Amino acid sequence: SQSPLIAPSILSADFARLGEEAAAVSTADWLHVDVMDAHFVPNLTLGLPVVQSLLKATDIPLDCHLMIDDPDRWAVGYAEAGAYNVTVHVEAAADPVRIARDLRAAGAKAGLSIKPGTPLEPYTEVLRHYDTLLVMSVEPGFGGQSFMPEVLDKVRTARRLVDTGHLTLVVEIDGGINADTIEQAAEAGVDCFVAGSAVYGAQDPGKAVEALRAQAAK
Ligand code: DX5
Ligand code: ZN
Repeated sequence: SQSPLIAPSILSADFARLGEEAAAVSTADWLHVDVMDAHFVPNLTLGLPVVQSLLKATDIPLDCHLMIDDPDRWAVGYAEAGAYNVTVHVEAAADPVRIARDLRAAGAKAGLSIKPGTPLEPYTEVLRHYDTLLVMSVEPGFGGQSFMPEVLDKVRTARRLVDTGHLTLVVEIDGGINADTIEQAAEAGVDCFVAGSAVYGAQDPGKAVEALRAQAAK
């Protein structure tokens, strides 16, 4: 299989030093940026102006995870700004196919995310329009929560759909990924691993990225 992708989540970084915090994970494949609006999730983080500043501060491709209401209105702005991948939640999207078209037309990859309780099957047709599938392994809103292994069934299903040629997707997982959980996620078929507290809670975030990648590749 491909070399695993590691995407540190800056939700667990120091928001007053985001440029330095990005530099501390220079070997990361993607930098995961959690956008929260205090409506779709009970937390408020950052939005487009901060993403625009981050794009100037780092060369790491930005993986913007929009935990917001009305992504039909807001998502394309992140693609136009230069984000590498823009992920919206299927639970919030009115027209996910149109969103994917808009994101791709603006030059970004299109990502679709599903919360732990959201089934995958109803969206297999919609996913034909997407480049990444972000399976949430915690309830979205906060870093530092415990991994929910039951979502790995959805990862296995997605992996099968990709491996049999029915879909072309990067399968990404987000929530509770650390040294104790990354191997079971890798075994289930994850391509890209988001890790917040396991990276930014470590003494050396750069080394933590390398260690997680090595574990996922086992
Ligand atoms: C949670 C966010 C995650 C979060 C993960 O809603 O989507 O990206 O940063 O943090 P950890 O890795 O600490 O669970
Ligand atoms: Zn996230």
